[in-house]
Amino acid sequence: MIRLGVNIDHVATVRQARGELYPDPVQAAVFCELGGADNITCHLREDRRHIQDRDVPSLKDSIKIPLNFEIAGTEAMIRIAQQIMPHAVTLVPEKREERTTEGGLDVAGQMRDLKPKIARLKDCGILVSLFIEPEDHAIEVSAELGADAVEFHTGSWCHQMAACRRTREQVALTAKLNHASALAHRMGLQAHFGHGLNYTNAMWLQHVEHAEEANIGHAIVARALFTGLKEAVQTMKELLNDPRHRP
Ligand code: PXP
Repeated sequence: MIRLGVNIDHVATVRQARGELYPDPVQAAVFCELGGADNITCHLREDRRHIQDRDVPSLKDSIKIPLNFEIAGTEAMIRIAQQIMPHAVTLVPEKREERTTEGGLDVAGQMRDLKPKIARLKDCGILVSLFIEPEDHAIEVSAELGADAVEFHTGSWCHQMAACRRTREQVALTAKLNHASALAHRMGLQAHFGHGLNYTNAMWLQHVEHAEEANIGHAIVARALFTGLKEAVQTMKELLNDPRHRP
């Protein structure tokens, strides 16, 4: 089964647009849980554009499923993670001017900085995942760094899938994710996927043999405007796992 992690950042984006107290991402997380989400992801960005500091402990206390805390690997964020003690931390690159997380971590270029930080998080019993491009070298370096999991940035895969005119092109593109996932598995890393996954492409992950988790935010929150969160989550989970949706 592919676990579904729901990223509730965009609920906070709507709240922050007006500086109100609603909609509450914590309440959203509870509805996601009712819809069958396997974990909740939130990204505390340096600029606090959506999730706020107070949301994170509140989320951790309100959900029964694991919390995946997404952060840049700065000293300040590592300390917050050590206080919150989420189930998992996903380390991501972060640029203030970006609209969303663009591209994976440069794990090879940041080995010296990342290694002790990963060790500190793991020493607290937190599972560490690195958000990387689905490339062999990045996978090998992630294993060397002692990560427990890698989350493959699916942004460019999603764009390429949308541009495909033939099924066989989509099969070939998905084979690349399958290759990355198999290599991660051989190196003892869990294979997670995230970014840009939606109701037209997520079912292709059924062809990725060692896919363990998909983290999806924007598409689920957008669909929830029409169906409600619970149903949006349920439908996505079916796309990921029900053989009837296997392309
Ligand atoms: N995983 C990671 C590491 C991310 O940074 C994001 C985007 O915040 C997501 C998953 C979810 O991406 P999307 O909102 O496009 O589903």
